[in-house]
Amino acid sequence: MTQLSAAQTKPSDGSKALYGGKGTRRITVRDIAAAKERGEKWPMLTAYDAMTASVFDEAGIPVLLVGDSAGNCHLGYESTVPVTLDEMTMLSAAVVRGTSRALIVGDMPFGSYQEGPVHALRSATRLVKEAGVGAVKLEGGERSHRQIELLVESGIPVMAHIGLTPQSVNAMGYRVQGRGEEAAQQLLRDAKAVQDAGAFAVVLELVPAELAAEVTRVLHIPTVGIGAGAETDAQVLVWTDMLGLTPGRVPKFVKKYANLREVMGNAVKEFAEDVVGGTFPLEEHSVH
Ligand code: KIV
Repeated sequence: MTQLSAAQTKPSDGSKALYGGKGTRRITVRDIAAAKERGEKWPMLTAYDAMTASVFDEAGIPVLLVGDSAGNCHLGYESTVPVTLDEMTMLSAAVVRGTSRALIVGDMPFGSYQEGPVHALRSATRLVKEAGVGAVKLEGGERSHRQIELLVESGIPVMAHIGLTPQSVNAMGYRVQGRGEEAAQQLLRDAKAVQDAGAFAVVLELVPAELAAEVTRVLHIPTVGIGAGAETDAQVLVWTDMLGLTPGRVPKFVKKYANLREVMGNAVKEFAEDVVGGTFPLEEHSVH
């Protein structure tokens, strides 16, 4: 039988597309695999609360990551390191409640899987049972393959995360990974290790675009890039960065699509001036 090419398997009307498709049921990891076969690119965003997640879900974002970037972007910590499993479970449950279509991926925080596969299974089970996520994410390539294997064997879909892994900031800093022949070979080994362990997708963070393109060609699972060039199957951004809420400088790979910090700041100043000047509330905002 002749094999169909990716272009030939793409539905001509785009009805099954992850973004812009007509489906309304919750997206599963099988839909993600089918998108890779069709050669379809897709967007992913982080989300940390029900209301923001509902906006992204209504906009058609097919995969939402309750990232442990919540540490810096939502909970006021310096990094992702202090985030606890209790916090991730609470935030993930809120994002699940606020959405009906997106696949929700719950991040496993630092200290919730490093002790070994059984430790990982216990923690991931909480995210699946208590929060209702459809998949979990954990950091590490070869070093995390045993954890991934047991989770997948137990029926929990896993998104892996290699390249820059922020939970290891104290050891590796925030630096580009995979530069130079040896580091590039290690990244390729990490990518194959997580695929062989059964991960359904892999995040590539802050790696050279050429290397991310090679990993994307070699793997049969989708790659999700952040600071990894244009050739990955999917792209993820931290929502507070891309909508301009994060204060100060954001990484070079971020494109700012809005300036929410300015919009919100101006709106609350207007409210404060109305209150001080006696122009809020007006008759129309009052009950009698
Ligand atoms: O926690 C997070 O937001 C992440 C993304 C940057 C991939 O891991």
